[in-house]
Amino acid sequence: MLPRKIVIDCDPGIDDALAIVLAHGSPDLEILGITTVGGNVDLAGTTDNALRLREFLGFADVPIAAGSAGALLRPRVNAAEVHGASGLGGALLPPATLPVTGGHAVDFIIETLRADPGEVTLVAIGPLTNVALAVLKEPRIVDWARGLTILGGSYTRGNFSPAAEFNIAADPEAAAIVFGAGWTVTMIGLDVSRSAVTTEAVADRMRAMGRLGADLLIPCVEFYGVITADGGPAIHDACAVAYLIDPSLITVEPAVVDVETAGRFTSGMTVTDFRLGGRTPNALVGTSLDTGRFWDLLLATYAQVARTIEDQSPDLARLPSPSS
Ligand code: BDR
Ligand code: CA
Repeated sequence: MLPRKIVIDCDPGIDDALAIVLAHGSPDLEILGITTVGGNVDLAGTTDNALRLREFLGFADVPIAAGSAGALLRPRVNAAEVHGASGLGGALLPPATLPVTGGHAVDFIIETLRADPGEVTLVAIGPLTNVALAVLKEPRIVDWARGLTILGGSYTRGNFSPAAEFNIAADPEAAAIVFGAGWTVTMIGLDVSRSAVTTEAVADRMRAMGRLGADLLIPCVEFYGVITADGGPAIHDACAVAYLIDPSLITVEPAVVDVETAGRFTSGMTVTDFRLGGRTPNALVGTSLDTGRFWDLLLATYAQVARTIEDQSPDLARLPSPSS
């Protein structure tokens, strides 16, 4: 089967970075472009991180376009206390030498979907500002997209507030536009991604991954949270990418999702109604993750990326080959 074509809209971001490594390493996905949005850190930071990741991982041919710096109607928020001042925790990737693609991320999204109707899936793992602006500027993207999968929202607890998840709370008006656009949003939220925890056993496997482990994965996850035998930081964004590689990893259920934009205590809440009552669902909402198989996929893919990086740097210590 041909790989699924994707555009990743993101705000790297520790877990965005780990999602990008997964997408890059998966033979089942083809990244047509990466678009950036202000979120975990400001737009300059998220864009710089995307550029650094591209060169560190070695996919220089994939365009990267910068997008919206902040929310449609609200003051900017960030999560630098979670992701570090740079946005990539303790990772110190070399500065990028190649620039962003000219043009705005919103136009990149529209033109990429227009060029290949029915074939390109949008994966949004940051605030939904770019996606909302793309819908407003060219409503036909809703029909052109093969799908939209987001990491965002929650039908139980929030992380930005008791009720709201960060990506939705950062720009609730944008999220409301996206959920109301007429397509079916695959919403992989905290209800699922909170299970994707990096345990000590997972971190040990990452530590054996040469430069990928030492320069990116470990400085990211160790900054992101305390790793224990059965707990650790949750790699939220990678869940959305993993779902596209293997949908059987995450159970999804149809629902009607409305985004709260006015609530005094609940702004950014994804009010999720599984009781359809004859209504057409606007979302498929993730309800559970097969955590064991999720990590099997990630670690196998990361190991392959790690070997490729070592092969590109033969002067550095080589990793064992898969057969040794
Ligand atoms: C989401 O918020 C961001 O901090 C992460 O990158 C992820 O996209 C989790 O709530
Ligand atoms: Ca993110």
